Amino acid sequence: MMDYYTFLIYSHILGFILLGGGLAAVFVSELRAYRAREVHVFVEAARYTAIQYDVLVLPGALIAGSSGLFLVLELELGFFQEPWVVGMWGLFVFEFLEGNIFTRIQFRRTLRESVKLLEHGRLTEEARDEARTVIGLIVHFLDLPLFAVIVYCGKVRPDTWAELGLAIGVAVVVASILTVFVPRLARRDLEPEGQEAMP
Ligand code: HEM
Repeated sequence: MMDYYTFLIYSHILGFILLGGGLAAVFVSELRAYRAREVHVFVEAARYTAIQYDVLVLPGALIAGSSGLFLVLELELGFFQEPWVVGMWGLFVFEFLEGNIFTRIQFRRTLRESVKLLEHGRLTEEARDEARTVIGLIVHFLDLPLFAVIVYCGKVRPDTWAELGLAIGVAVVVASILTVFVPRLARRDLEPEGQEAMP
């Protein structure tokens, strides 16, 4: 029979697999949207992003977060002593709030604006920018780098604040590079309107 600690760590791993898998799926559906030339593809990508957040990211976050909380209590680690523990729950809380405030507002807006396009069927640059704001892009591209830092905290367990700060700094630089280049590169060789770009 599984003991309490094993149940917690098992749930924790399941939780962050769901969460990480969902964030990776959202990265792909958003990439599909950047490369879409056809309105129905653009709308479908927005639908997938919304579904993946609700079906994978949110449940995964709730399982990883709650099991993580009980792991800290069970292992009597304290919430402020160990840099890696502070890194885990601190970044998790930031991601959870940002995810359920900015990101959720963003993908609901993207879906709404995308569906509106079905009425007049033209996927202009303005319509794209209307569907995905700059703040929406920034919080979107922060997700995976910060998730990687949380996994780093759980597995590598940085034991100085400097190491934790460095890991977060690297994640912010990676997120900035992704925010600047991914949408631009995704649109770089798009075919003239009406012809679907190669995926
Ligand atoms: C995105 C969310 C999270 C991810 C990706 C994550 C990831 C991980 C990973 C990879 C481990 C190592 C598991 C192992 O050694 O096999 C771990 C352990 C741990 N996590 Fe998290 N975690 C997350 C959220 C949290 C939160 C919110 C807390 C606390 C409130 C937390 C507390 C812990 C603790 C205490 C351990 C150590 C367990 C042990 O020593 O056996 N985690 N986590």
